[in-house]
Amino acid sequence: MATETLKAMTGEEMIALSKQHTLFEWSAQSKVDPIPVARAKGIYFYTPEGKRFIDFNSQLMCVNIGHGDERVIRAIQDQLAVLPYANPFMATEPRARLGAKLAAIAPGDIDVFFFTNGGAEANENAIKLARLATGRHKILARYRSYHGATAGSMMLTGDPRRWAAEPGMPGVVHVLDPYHGIERGWDTAEQSLAMIEEIIQLEGSHTIAAFILESVTGTNGVLVPPDGYMQGVRALCDKYGILMICDEVMAGFGRTGEWFAINHWNVVPDMICMAKGLTSAYVQLGAVGMRRTIADQFKDKVFYGGLTYNSHPLACAAALATLQVYEEDKLIENARKMGVVMRQLLDELARKHPSVGAARSIGLFGLVELVRDRAKKTPLAPFNGTSPEMAALSKFFRDEGLYTFVRWNTFFTNPPLCITEAQLREAFAIIDRGLETTDRAVA
Ligand SMILES: Cc1ncc(COP(=O)(O)O)c(C=O)c1O
Repeated sequence: MATETLKAMTGEEMIALSKQHTLFEWSAQSKVDPIPVARAKGIYFYTPEGKRFIDFNSQLMCVNIGHGDERVIRAIQDQLAVLPYANPFMATEPRARLGAKLAAIAPGDIDVFFFTNGGAEANENAIKLARLATGRHKILARYRSYHGATAGSMMLTGDPRRWAAEPGMPGVVHVLDPYHGIERGWDTAEQSLAMIEEIIQLEGSHTIAAFILESVTGTNGVLVPPDGYMQGVRALCDKYGILMICDEVMAGFGRTGEWFAINHWNVVPDMICMAKGLTSAYVQLGAVGMRRTIADQFKDKVFYGGLTYNSHPLACAAALATLQVYEEDKLIENARKMGVVMRQLLDELARKHPSVGAARSIGLFGLVELVRDRAKKTPLAPFNGTSPEMAALSKFFRDEGLYTFVRWNTFFTNPPLCITEAQLREAFAIIDRGLETTDRAVA
């Protein structure tokens, strides 16, 4: 039978059928209100009816190079024509080239990679590797963190998305971050490190395999650690024989103005987890990178881990083409340059709008925290909740054609790294008008 040619759907049809037959993540299904998306190019995406959105969140902080890049599309098509799939026991050219390329750009002596389907699986395999390599069981993780939705990564996750999955994999010990919420502010690096060291001693350092942490915390607040913190974590891990795992699933691949965010502090972790920007989400791919010393442990010992789609040729080809785009178009430099402009625009918002309680950014990784009382810094929505004001802001952005993530009392400013200054200003003009609505809530 010939393949049927289908009539393109309207936005309403897409929504109705998607809601009828598919489950939307992290949502009560009666509450979901998806935007129908038909196509995308550069920093924009479009509904079937042609409404244009500025993608100010790079979808899920992942389309770092921007939408519809012909070079990546061609590379995927070329690979598809030659070899769409080979099983993980085979060696393929895209697998070989991608391993070597990542070894060249990863921090320090991180040299060996295990490929997965995404970020959660990268973290799963990192903790598996850490346990096998150290013979220890416990994993330290932080409360203000998200590490993915698979069984183990969900337990590493510190934020409320973990609660519904408990009790899960045992052995994860959560520690506090340097940041304690907008009302309570930051610890110094020294205070925070002292707390971690006390926990290491109380848990028994000889029982702890690894400490996993986002180099810059993503969905839990774009929290840029104080100088000295990451160096201090590295020193504590060295002191107690604990492996340091940086989760760069969101912060990696130019988002902060460096290939990897941990480079800002000149620290080399033992393992680094990545996904999202690795292929800019054109094809799903994650990876855990490890130092040679860890990989060498599996020369004679079996690595007990595997995935049918490990080292998937199509995904590896997409990653190689994506990495080339970062380099050809100098996107990491652009993230640094546009990051300076975005910082100024965020500062202007903070000066002008009483509802802005804090605005943090590093490169093109940004977030605004909104408050209803500037002196007391009372958040405009509670921890793990929303409010009519935040819902109204979200609606305003959507009506005005600005897509971004609105979560609790925060919203994100994470555009594709190919954004121009004029496009940044266009987006911030919408945000500026939106904040007039939240300013009305300020006491
Ligand atoms: C820091 C971090 N780690 C892990 C993940 C999970 O990645 P994935 O959704 O690809 O499994 C995410 C996803 O947002 C993330 O932000």
